[in-house]
Amino acid sequence: MIFFLSSLLHTTIVNSETQCRRFKSIISFGDSIADTGNLLGLSDPNHLPHVAFSPYGETFFHHPTGRFSNGRLIIDFIGNVSNHGFPIVPPFYGPPNANFEKVVNFAVGEATALERSFLEERGIHFAYTNVSLGVYTNVSLGVQLKSFKDALPKLCGSPSDCRDMIKNALILMGEIGGNDYNYVFFVGKTIEEVRDIN
Ligand SMILES: *[C@@H]1O[C@H](CO)[C@@H](O)[C@H](O)[C@H]1NC(C)=O
Ligand SMILES: *[C@@H]1O[C@H](CO)[C@@H](O)[C@H](O)[C@H]1NC(C)=O
Ligand SMILES: *[C@@H]1O[C@H](CO)[C@@H](O)[C@H](O)[C@H]1NC(C)=O
Repeated sequence: MIFFLSSLLHTTIVNSETQCRRFKSIISFGDSIADTGNLLGLSDPNHLPHVAFSPYGETFFHHPTGRFSNGRLIIDFIGNVSNHGFPIVPPFYGPPNANFEKVVNFAVGEATALERSFLEERGIHFAYTNVSLGVYTNVSLGVQLKSFKDALPKLCGSPSDCRDMIKNALILMGEIGGNDYNYVFFVGKTIEEVRDIN
Protein backbone atom coordinates (compact mmCIF):
# COMPACT_ATOMS: atom_id res chain seq x y z
CA MET A 1 0.00 0.00 0.00
CA ILE A 2 2.85 2.37 0.88
CA PHE A 3 4.50 1.49 -2.39
CA PHE A 4 1.25 2.12 -4.21
CA LEU A 5 0.72 5.50 -2.52
CA SER A 6 4.27 6.58 -3.19
CA SER A 7 3.90 5.64 -6.85
CA LEU A 8 0.68 7.65 -7.00
CA LEU A 9 2.53 10.62 -5.55
CA HIS A 10 5.21 10.17 -8.17
CA THR A 11 2.59 10.10 -10.91
CA THR A 12 1.07 13.32 -9.61
CA ILE A 13 4.43 15.09 -9.64
CA VAL A 14 5.24 13.89 -13.14
CA ASN A 15 1.81 15.01 -14.37
CA SER A 16 2.04 18.49 -12.93
CA GLU A 17 5.44 18.90 -14.57
CA THR A 18 4.05 17.93 -17.96
CA GLN A 19 1.06 20.27 -17.45
CA CYS A 20 -1.92 17.93 -17.87
CA ARG A 21 -1.03 16.41 -21.21
CA ARG A 22 -3.86 14.83 -23.10
CA PHE A 23 -2.97 11.21 -23.62
CA LYS A 24 -4.26 9.56 -26.76
CA SER A 25 -4.07 6.02 -25.45
CA ILE A 26 -3.22 3.87 -22.43
CA ILE A 27 -0.72 1.00 -22.33
CA SER A 28 -0.76 -1.05 -19.15
CA PHE A 29 1.46 -3.76 -17.61
CA GLY A 30 1.15 -5.39 -14.20
CA ASP A 31 -0.55 -8.01 -12.07
CA SER A 32 -4.03 -8.61 -10.64
CA ILE A 33 -4.38 -4.98 -9.55
CA ALA A 34 -4.82 -4.06 -13.24
CA ASP A 35 -5.89 -7.37 -14.83
CA THR A 36 -9.13 -6.81 -16.77
CA GLY A 37 -9.37 -10.44 -17.95
CA ASN A 38 -5.91 -11.61 -19.03
CA LEU A 39 -5.41 -14.45 -16.53
CA LEU A 40 -8.88 -15.69 -17.40
CA GLY A 41 -8.13 -15.45 -21.13
CA LEU A 42 -4.90 -17.43 -20.68
CA SER A 43 -6.51 -20.14 -18.54
CA ASP A 44 -7.34 -23.69 -19.47
CA PRO A 45 -11.17 -23.72 -19.72
CA ASN A 46 -11.21 -26.88 -17.58
CA HIS A 47 -9.21 -25.19 -14.79
CA LEU A 48 -10.55 -21.68 -14.57
CA PRO A 49 -9.19 -19.32 -11.90
CA HIS A 50 -11.45 -18.24 -9.00
CA VAL A 51 -12.09 -14.87 -10.72
CA ALA A 52 -14.17 -16.72 -13.32
CA PHE A 53 -16.87 -17.26 -10.69
CA SER A 54 -19.31 -15.30 -8.56
CA PRO A 55 -19.03 -13.03 -6.55
CA TYR A 56 -16.33 -11.52 -8.81
CA GLY A 57 -17.86 -8.76 -10.95
CA GLU A 58 -21.20 -8.74 -9.18
CA THR A 59 -21.51 -5.03 -8.34
CA PHE A 60 -20.65 -3.33 -11.64
CA PHE A 61 -20.47 -5.68 -14.61
CA HIS A 62 -22.97 -8.09 -12.99
CA HIS A 63 -20.96 -11.09 -14.19
CA PRO A 64 -17.36 -12.24 -13.70
CA THR A 65 -14.98 -10.53 -16.17
CA GLY A 66 -11.68 -11.87 -14.87
CA ARG A 67 -11.08 -8.74 -12.78
CA PHE A 68 -9.90 -9.53 -9.23
CA SER A 69 -12.69 -7.35 -7.89
CA ASN A 70 -16.43 -7.22 -7.34
CA GLY A 71 -16.49 -4.08 -9.53
CA ARG A 72 -14.14 -1.90 -11.50
CA LEU A 73 -10.38 -1.53 -11.11
CA ILE A 74 -8.34 1.67 -10.92
CA ILE A 75 -7.46 1.33 -14.61
CA ASP A 76 -11.17 1.28 -15.50
CA PHE A 77 -11.59 4.63 -13.73
CA ILE A 78 -8.46 6.11 -15.32
CA GLY A 79 -9.70 4.97 -18.74
CA ASN A 80 -13.13 6.42 -18.17
CA VAL A 81 -12.49 9.92 -16.82
CA SER A 82 -14.33 12.47 -18.93
CA ASN A 83 -11.42 13.65 -21.09
CA HIS A 84 -10.18 10.14 -21.84
CA GLY A 85 -13.44 8.28 -22.34
CA PHE A 86 -11.99 4.82 -23.01
CA PRO A 87 -14.70 3.05 -21.05
CA ILE A 88 -13.77 -0.57 -21.68
CA VAL A 89 -10.24 -1.80 -21.01
CA PRO A 90 -9.93 -5.02 -23.06
CA PRO A 91 -7.45 -7.70 -21.97
CA PHE A 92 -4.66 -8.23 -24.53
CA TYR A 93 -4.66 -12.01 -23.89
CA GLY A 94 -8.44 -12.15 -24.05
CA PRO A 95 -10.81 -12.81 -26.93
CA PRO A 96 -9.28 -12.28 -30.39
CA ASN A 97 -10.22 -9.21 -32.48
CA ALA A 98 -10.60 -6.91 -29.46
CA ASN A 99 -10.08 -3.24 -30.26
CA PHE A 100 -6.75 -1.99 -28.82
CA GLU A 101 -6.78 1.36 -30.58
CA LYS A 102 -7.15 3.34 -27.34
CA VAL A 103 -6.24 0.99 -24.51
CA VAL A 104 -4.09 -2.09 -24.44
CA ASN A 105 -3.69 -3.96 -21.19
CA PHE A 106 -1.10 -6.71 -20.63
CA ALA A 107 -1.49 -7.00 -16.83
CA VAL A 108 -1.94 -10.62 -15.68
CA GLY A 109 -3.12 -11.65 -12.22
CA GLU A 110 -0.44 -13.62 -10.26
CA ALA A 111 2.33 -12.18 -12.47
CA THR A 112 5.79 -11.49 -11.10
CA ALA A 113 8.32 -8.82 -12.02
CA LEU A 114 11.08 -11.45 -12.17
CA GLU A 115 10.95 -14.37 -14.62
CA ARG A 116 9.42 -17.55 -13.23
CA SER A 117 12.55 -19.48 -14.25
CA PHE A 118 14.67 -17.09 -12.12
CA LEU A 119 12.48 -17.75 -9.08
CA GLU A 120 12.37 -21.53 -9.69
CA GLU A 121 16.16 -21.70 -9.89
CA ARG A 122 16.11 -20.29 -6.37
CA GLY A 123 13.68 -22.90 -5.07
CA ILE A 124 10.47 -20.91 -5.41
CA HIS A 125 8.12 -23.59 -6.77
CA PHE A 126 4.92 -22.07 -5.55
CA ALA A 127 1.63 -23.80 -6.41
CA TYR A 128 -1.82 -22.79 -5.28
CA THR A 129 -3.32 -24.91 -2.50
CA ASN A 130 -6.04 -25.92 -4.96
CA VAL A 131 -3.67 -27.93 -7.15
CA SER A 132 -6.07 -27.86 -10.09
CA LEU A 133 -5.21 -24.17 -10.35
CA GLY A 134 -1.55 -25.08 -10.88
CA VAL A 135 1.50 -22.92 -10.40
CA TYR A 136 1.32 -19.16 -10.79
CA THR A 137 1.36 -17.67 -14.29
CA ASN A 138 4.65 -17.39 -16.18
CA VAL A 139 3.53 -14.17 -17.88
CA SER A 140 6.01 -12.03 -15.97
CA LEU A 141 6.69 -8.37 -16.70
CA GLY A 142 9.38 -9.40 -19.21
CA VAL A 143 6.91 -11.66 -21.06
CA GLN A 144 4.31 -8.85 -21.10
CA LEU A 145 6.87 -6.42 -22.53
CA LYS A 146 7.82 -8.97 -25.19
CA SER A 147 4.13 -9.41 -26.12
CA PHE A 148 3.88 -5.64 -26.47
CA LYS A 149 6.97 -5.49 -28.67
CA ASP A 150 5.74 -8.38 -30.84
CA ALA A 151 2.30 -6.74 -31.19
CA LEU A 152 3.62 -3.30 -32.21
CA PRO A 153 3.17 -3.79 -35.99
CA LYS A 154 -0.47 -4.68 -35.35
CA LEU A 155 -1.05 -1.96 -32.74
CA CYS A 156 0.48 0.99 -34.56
CA GLY A 157 1.98 -0.01 -37.92
CA SER A 158 5.21 1.65 -38.95
CA PRO A 159 8.08 2.47 -36.52
CA SER A 160 7.37 6.21 -36.82
CA ASP A 161 3.65 5.70 -36.13
CA CYS A 162 4.63 3.55 -33.13
CA ARG A 163 6.99 6.21 -31.79
CA ASP A 164 4.14 8.69 -32.08
CA MET A 165 1.72 6.33 -30.33
CA ILE A 166 4.10 5.64 -27.44
CA LYS A 167 4.98 9.34 -27.08
CA ASN A 168 1.31 10.20 -26.62
CA ALA A 169 0.36 7.23 -24.45
CA LEU A 170 -0.12 7.00 -20.71
CA ILE A 171 2.04 4.00 -19.80
CA LEU A 172 1.10 2.26 -16.55
CA MET A 173 4.00 0.08 -15.40
CA GLY A 174 2.44 -1.88 -12.60
CA GLU A 175 1.65 -2.45 -9.81
CA ILE A 176 4.11 -5.31 -10.35
CA GLY A 177 6.51 -7.05 -7.95
CA GLY A 178 4.22 -7.73 -4.99
CA ASN A 179 3.82 -11.36 -6.02
CA ASP A 180 7.58 -11.86 -6.16
CA TYR A 181 7.53 -11.29 -2.39
CA ASN A 182 4.30 -13.26 -1.85
CA TYR A 183 5.54 -16.50 -3.44
CA VAL A 184 8.88 -16.41 -1.66
CA PHE A 185 7.11 -16.03 1.69
CA PHE A 186 4.41 -18.60 0.77
CA VAL A 187 7.04 -21.32 0.30
CA GLY A 188 8.39 -20.54 3.75
CA LYS A 189 11.59 -18.62 3.02
CA THR A 190 12.98 -16.30 5.67
CA ILE A 191 13.15 -12.54 5.37
CA GLU A 192 16.91 -12.77 4.71
CA GLU A 193 16.32 -15.13 1.80
CA VAL A 194 13.60 -12.81 0.46
CA ARG A 195 16.11 -9.93 0.53
CA ASP A 196 18.66 -12.00 -1.39
CA ILE A 197 16.18 -12.91 -4.12
CA ASN A 198 14.44 -9.60 -4.57
C1 LIG B 1 -10.37 -26.07 -7.33
O1 LIG B 1 -10.59 -25.19 -8.41
C2 LIG B 1 -11.49 -25.70 -9.40
C3 LIG B 1 -11.53 -24.71 -10.53
O2 LIG B 1 -11.78 -23.42 -10.08
C4 LIG B 1 -12.85 -25.91 -8.74
O3 LIG B 1 -13.75 -26.47 -9.70
C5 LIG B 1 -12.71 -26.88 -7.57
O4 LIG B 1 -13.95 -27.01 -6.90
C6 LIG B 1 -11.65 -26.37 -6.59
N1 LIG B 1 -11.41 -27.37 -5.54
C7 LIG B 1 -11.38 -27.07 -4.26
C8 LIG B 1 -11.09 -28.21 -3.33
O5 LIG B 1 -11.56 -25.93 -3.83
C1 LIG C 1 -17.90 5.48 -17.52
O1 LIG C 1 -18.38 6.71 -17.00
C2 LIG C 1 -19.77 6.93 -17.24
C3 LIG C 1 -20.10 8.35 -16.76
O2 LIG C 1 -19.72 8.53 -15.43
C4 LIG C 1 -20.59 5.85 -16.52
O3 LIG C 1 -21.95 6.03 -16.79
C5 LIG C 1 -20.15 4.48 -17.05
O4 LIG C 1 -20.82 3.46 -16.32
C6 LIG C 1 -18.65 4.31 -16.87
N1 LIG C 1 -18.22 3.04 -17.47
C7 LIG C 1 -17.24 2.29 -16.92
C8 LIG C 1 -16.93 0.99 -17.62
O5 LIG C 1 -16.64 2.60 -15.93
C1 LIG D 1 4.55 -20.36 -20.19
O1 LIG D 1 3.81 -21.56 -20.00
C2 LIG D 1 3.12 -22.01 -21.17
C3 LIG D 1 2.23 -23.16 -20.77
O2 LIG D 1 2.88 -24.08 -19.94
C4 LIG D 1 4.16 -22.37 -22.23
O3 LIG D 1 3.53 -22.80 -23.40
C5 LIG D 1 5.02 -21.12 -22.53
O4 LIG D 1 6.03 -21.43 -23.44
C6 LIG D 1 5.62 -20.55 -21.26
N1 LIG D 1 6.24 -19.26 -21.57
C7 LIG D 1 7.39 -18.85 -21.02
C8 LIG D 1 7.89 -17.51 -21.45
O5 LIG D 1 8.03 -19.54 -20.22
